[in-house]
Amino acid sequence: MKNFITCLPFFLVFGFTGAVSATSLQYDSVFNFGDSLSDTGNFLLSGALAFPVIGKLPYGETFFRHPTGRCSDGRLVIDFIAEAAGLPYLPPFLGLGKGQDFKHGVNFAVAGATALDSKFFYEHNIGQILWTNDSLSVQLDWFKKLKPSLCTTKQECDKYFNKSLFVVGEIGGNDYNYASFVGGSIKQLRASVPLVVQAIAGAATLLIEEGAVELLVPGNLPIGCSAVYLTLFQSPNKEDYDKHGCLKAYNAFSKYHNKQLKGALEILRLKYPHARIIYADYYAAAKRINHSPNRYGFYNGVLTACCGGGGPYNFNNSARCGHIGSKACENPSTYANWDGIHLTEAAYKIIAKGLIYGPFSRPPLRKFPL
Ligand SMILES: *[C@@H]1O[C@H](CO)[C@@H](O)[C@H](O)[C@H]1NC(C)=O
Ligand SMILES: *[C@@H]1O[C@H](CO)[C@@H](O)[C@H](O)[C@H]1NC(C)=O
Ligand SMILES: *[C@@H]1O[C@H](CO)[C@@H](O)[C@H](O)[C@H]1NC(C)=O
Repeated sequence: MKNFITCLPFFLVFGFTGAVSATSLQYDSVFNFGDSLSDTGNFLLSGALAFPVIGKLPYGETFFRHPTGRCSDGRLVIDFIAEAAGLPYLPPFLGLGKGQDFKHGVNFAVAGATALDSKFFYEHNIGQILWTNDSLSVQLDWFKKLKPSLCTTKQECDKYFNKSLFVVGEIGGNDYNYASFVGGSIKQLRASVPLVVQAIAGAATLLIEEGAVELLVPGNLPIGCSAVYLTLFQSPNKEDYDKHGCLKAYNAFSKYHNKQLKGALEILRLKYPHARIIYADYYAAAKRINHSPNRYGFYNGVLTACCGGGGPYNFNNSARCGHIGSKACENPSTYANWDGIHLTEAAYKIIAKGLIYGPFSRPPLRKFPL
């Protein structure tokens, strides 16, 4: 009996900490803007003409067991954020039905979306390669349209958005992808960084003006470690690669974008001291996977895609994941790269953990006090 009593608080304590770690983020709703890194279905719902295989297995095979429109085998960073806040997975805006409850958040991200308006790419004669015209500003318009069904008076909105997290990105990666896939040099990419960063900071500004007080703004991933870049920009010179096998110049470019973005966020913090503007260091969160793949279970490496049609990085533009001539690996959790462009659920989970529990969100996300 005595034993039982002394055990009781032990179990209570453990039950309690267990619950806290399952719902550790303190938000009642999450609104997300971005591209394929966080799209939970909008691109597929919009027709997915440029990438129809997204609606077929093996996309979705690991977690949902059916294709959902996510560009991965399973969950994305935004799904792990929703889980950590104890919220439902964010429904895609284009799929919202009548009577659906979306008070806990909505996802406006669209795979292929750019930070700059599609008009910019048409003016530079590369509009025809865009997957979608649903750029960041289109996604913001969708939010403005939806807002009256979330809250009406300023007082009501302030109270509601006080408990909301607005995730703005990752976005901008495609602005650079489109340009480099048609032969743009790194020098040309660098010239477009101020415009892209301005578009992202502008989106954050608009959301703050609409009532957002807590924003998470991710930077770009180390694109020099991505199978598509490694394949398209292969080099015979060993010096072009870092010791983890990534292309130095493209990683330096990602860092350049991130540095400018952090500078823009610093200016926003001064302008809106009441808002909490959090930078999410996707670069560092992903790079630590490259530094110690085995520690995270990526025994098959981090540069080679799980699903693809051959080649040194298993990325073949004539046989991309889901197309004839490609196949998926047996165990996606042992790969960090899913289809050459996007990451596996296992990799997104580690990045998400790094943002939620680790040091990669600065300042940290709002958590329940332990
Ligand atoms: C984007 O807009 C252009 C012209 O405004 C149109 O021709 C094109 O088909 C659109 N692209 C997509 C993917 O909807
Ligand atoms: C928003 O939350 C903070 C504490 O997190 C509180 O001090 C403030 O009064 C809240 N504002 C509104 C409008 O609810
Ligand atoms: C890429 O895919 C095409 C079409 O299936 C195939 O003919 C070619 O051999 C593949 N390339 C490599 C390097 O595997």
